[in-house]
Amino acid sequence: MKKDLSPILNDITPLLIQTILNEYQLSWRGVHGVTHWARVLENGLRLAARTGARTLVVALFAVFHDSRRTNESHDPGHGRRGAEFGKILNGKTFHLSDDDFTLFETACAYHTDSLTTGDVTVQTCWDSDRLDLGRVGIIPHPRLLCTTAAKQPEFLSWAYERSRLQYEPGICTYWASQHNTE
Ligand SMILES: [Fe+2]
Ligand SMILES: [Fe+2]
Repeated sequence: MKKDLSPILNDITPLLIQTILNEYQLSWRGVHGVTHWARVLENGLRLAARTGARTLVVALFAVFHDSRRTNESHDPGHGRRGAEFGKILNGKTFHLSDDDFTLFETACAYHTDSLTTGDVTVQTCWDSDRLDLGRVGIIPHPRLLCTTAAKQPEFLSWAYERSRLQYEPGICTYWASQHNTE
Protein backbone atom coordinates (compact mmCIF):
# COMPACT_ATOMS: atom_id res chain seq x y z
CA MET A 1 0.00 0.00 0.00
CA LYS A 2 1.34 3.41 -0.97
CA LYS A 3 0.98 6.20 1.53
CA ASP A 4 1.12 9.86 0.63
CA LEU A 5 3.84 11.28 2.86
CA SER A 6 3.54 14.86 1.64
CA PRO A 7 1.74 16.23 4.73
CA ILE A 8 4.53 14.91 6.92
CA LEU A 9 7.19 16.49 4.71
CA ASN A 10 5.86 19.83 5.86
CA ASP A 11 6.92 19.00 9.40
CA ILE A 12 9.98 16.79 8.84
CA THR A 13 11.73 19.66 7.12
CA PRO A 14 15.00 19.65 5.17
CA LEU A 15 16.58 21.66 7.99
CA LEU A 16 15.52 19.07 10.56
CA ILE A 17 16.90 16.17 8.55
CA GLN A 18 20.12 18.09 7.83
CA THR A 19 20.55 18.87 11.51
CA ILE A 20 20.06 15.26 12.57
CA LEU A 21 22.24 13.75 9.85
CA ASN A 22 25.06 16.26 10.25
CA GLU A 23 25.62 14.88 13.74
CA TYR A 24 24.78 11.22 13.12
CA GLN A 25 27.86 9.24 14.10
CA LEU A 26 27.15 5.99 12.24
CA SER A 27 26.73 4.99 8.62
CA TRP A 28 23.66 6.48 6.99
CA ARG A 29 22.97 3.13 5.42
CA GLY A 30 23.66 1.13 8.56
CA VAL A 31 21.20 -1.09 10.36
CA HIS A 32 20.01 1.84 12.49
CA GLY A 33 20.33 4.46 9.75
CA VAL A 34 18.00 6.31 7.42
CA THR A 35 16.34 3.35 5.71
CA HIS A 36 15.36 2.06 9.16
CA TRP A 37 14.05 5.50 10.12
CA ALA A 38 12.06 5.71 6.90
CA ARG A 39 10.46 2.28 7.36
CA VAL A 40 9.70 3.14 10.99
CA LEU A 41 8.09 6.35 9.74
CA GLU A 42 5.93 4.53 7.23
CA ASN A 43 5.08 1.78 9.74
CA GLY A 44 4.11 4.44 12.24
CA LEU A 45 1.93 6.50 9.94
CA ARG A 46 0.19 3.42 8.66
CA LEU A 47 -0.38 2.26 12.24
CA ALA A 48 -1.49 5.72 13.37
CA ALA A 49 -4.32 5.63 10.84
CA ARG A 50 -5.62 2.63 12.78
CA THR A 51 -4.71 3.56 16.36
CA GLY A 52 -5.40 7.29 16.32
CA ALA A 53 -1.86 8.10 17.46
CA ARG A 54 -0.49 11.65 17.14
CA THR A 55 1.12 11.55 13.72
CA LEU A 56 3.72 14.28 14.26
CA VAL A 57 4.95 12.54 17.42
CA VAL A 58 5.15 9.25 15.50
CA ALA A 59 7.06 10.90 12.64
CA LEU A 60 9.51 12.66 14.94
CA PHE A 61 10.10 9.46 16.90
CA ALA A 62 11.07 7.77 13.63
CA VAL A 63 13.86 10.24 12.87
CA PHE A 64 15.08 10.82 16.43
CA HIS A 65 14.87 7.52 18.31
CA ASP A 66 18.15 6.07 16.97
CA SER A 67 19.73 9.36 15.90
CA ARG A 68 22.14 9.52 18.86
CA ARG A 69 23.48 6.02 18.73
CA THR A 70 27.21 5.65 19.04
CA ASN A 71 27.39 2.05 17.87
CA GLU A 72 25.25 -0.48 16.01
CA SER A 73 24.91 -2.96 18.87
CA HIS A 74 24.32 -2.56 22.62
CA ASP A 75 24.08 1.18 23.19
CA PRO A 76 22.51 1.98 26.57
CA GLY A 77 20.84 5.36 26.81
CA HIS A 78 20.66 6.08 23.10
CA GLY A 79 16.89 6.61 23.28
CA ARG A 80 17.29 9.07 26.12
CA ARG A 81 19.97 10.90 24.14
CA GLY A 82 17.63 11.05 21.15
CA ALA A 83 14.95 12.60 23.33
CA GLU A 84 17.42 15.14 24.72
CA PHE A 85 18.48 16.06 21.18
CA GLY A 86 14.81 16.57 20.38
CA LYS A 87 14.43 18.83 23.38
CA ILE A 88 17.17 21.10 22.05
CA LEU A 89 15.52 21.34 18.63
CA ASN A 90 11.88 21.63 19.72
CA GLY A 91 10.66 25.15 19.02
CA LYS A 92 13.43 25.65 16.47
CA THR A 93 13.36 23.00 13.75
CA PHE A 94 10.04 21.47 14.77
CA HIS A 95 7.21 22.35 17.09
CA LEU A 96 5.54 20.08 19.60
CA SER A 97 3.20 21.15 22.40
CA ASP A 98 4.26 20.28 25.92
CA ASP A 99 1.89 17.31 26.01
CA ASP A 100 3.06 15.97 22.67
CA PHE A 101 6.70 16.47 23.61
CA THR A 102 6.14 14.37 26.74
CA LEU A 103 4.81 11.56 24.52
CA PHE A 104 7.78 11.92 22.15
CA GLU A 105 10.24 11.93 25.04
CA THR A 106 8.68 8.86 26.64
CA ALA A 107 8.61 6.98 23.34
CA CYS A 108 12.28 7.73 22.59
CA ALA A 109 13.64 7.24 26.09
CA TYR A 110 12.04 3.84 26.71
CA HIS A 111 11.88 2.34 23.22
CA THR A 112 14.41 -0.38 24.05
CA ASP A 113 12.88 -1.40 27.39
CA SER A 114 10.45 -3.99 25.97
CA LEU A 115 7.47 -2.17 27.46
CA THR A 116 4.07 -2.70 25.88
CA THR A 117 1.69 -0.53 27.90
CA GLY A 118 1.20 3.22 27.86
CA ASP A 119 -0.39 5.99 25.84
CA VAL A 120 -1.50 4.82 22.41
CA THR A 121 0.84 7.28 20.67
CA VAL A 122 3.79 5.90 22.62
CA GLN A 123 2.66 2.36 21.87
CA THR A 124 2.39 3.18 18.17
CA CYS A 125 5.95 4.55 18.19
CA TRP A 126 7.33 1.42 19.85
CA ASP A 127 5.45 -0.87 17.48
CA SER A 128 6.65 1.07 14.44
CA ASP A 129 10.23 0.36 15.51
CA ARG A 130 9.72 -3.28 16.55
CA LEU A 131 7.95 -4.06 13.28
CA ASP A 132 11.30 -3.38 11.55
CA LEU A 133 13.22 -6.15 13.30
CA GLY A 134 13.22 -8.31 10.19
CA ARG A 135 16.27 -6.39 8.98
CA VAL A 136 18.30 -8.15 11.68
CA GLY A 137 16.66 -11.54 11.20
CA ILE A 138 14.04 -11.28 13.93
CA ILE A 139 10.35 -11.93 13.34
CA PRO A 140 8.50 -9.65 15.78
CA HIS A 141 6.36 -11.74 18.14
CA PRO A 142 2.86 -10.33 18.64
CA ARG A 143 3.35 -10.70 22.39
CA LEU A 144 6.09 -8.07 22.21
CA LEU A 145 3.96 -5.62 20.26
CA CYS A 146 1.69 -3.06 21.90
CA THR A 147 -1.27 -2.33 19.65
CA THR A 148 -3.95 -4.60 18.28
CA ALA A 149 -3.34 -3.10 14.85
CA ALA A 150 0.34 -4.08 14.79
CA LYS A 151 -0.48 -7.63 15.91
CA GLN A 152 -2.72 -8.25 12.92
CA PRO A 153 -1.02 -10.97 10.85
CA GLU A 154 -1.38 -9.05 7.59
CA PHE A 155 0.09 -5.89 9.09
CA LEU A 156 2.93 -7.73 10.75
CA SER A 157 3.84 -9.62 7.58
CA TRP A 158 3.65 -6.45 5.45
CA ALA A 159 6.17 -4.72 7.73
CA TYR A 160 8.30 -7.83 8.23
CA GLU A 161 8.73 -8.41 4.49
CA ARG A 162 9.76 -4.80 3.88
CA SER A 163 12.19 -5.03 6.75
CA ARG A 164 13.61 -8.40 5.74
CA LEU A 165 14.17 -7.18 2.19
CA GLN A 166 15.54 -3.86 3.52
CA TYR A 167 13.03 -1.99 1.41
CA GLU A 168 14.08 1.61 0.90
CA PRO A 169 11.14 4.04 1.04
CA GLY A 170 11.14 6.88 -1.46
CA ILE A 171 11.49 9.40 1.32
CA CYS A 172 15.13 8.27 1.71
CA THR A 173 15.89 9.81 -1.67
CA TYR A 174 14.36 13.05 -0.51
CA TRP A 175 16.37 12.97 2.72
CA ALA A 176 19.59 12.17 0.85
CA SER A 177 18.98 15.19 -1.37
CA GLN A 178 19.06 17.35 1.76
CA HIS A 179 22.56 16.28 2.63
CA ASN A 180 25.42 16.50 0.18
CA THR A 181 28.20 14.65 1.92
CA GLU A 182 27.22 11.14 0.85
FE1 LIG B 1 16.99 2.12 19.22
FE1 LIG C 1 15.10 1.72 15.85
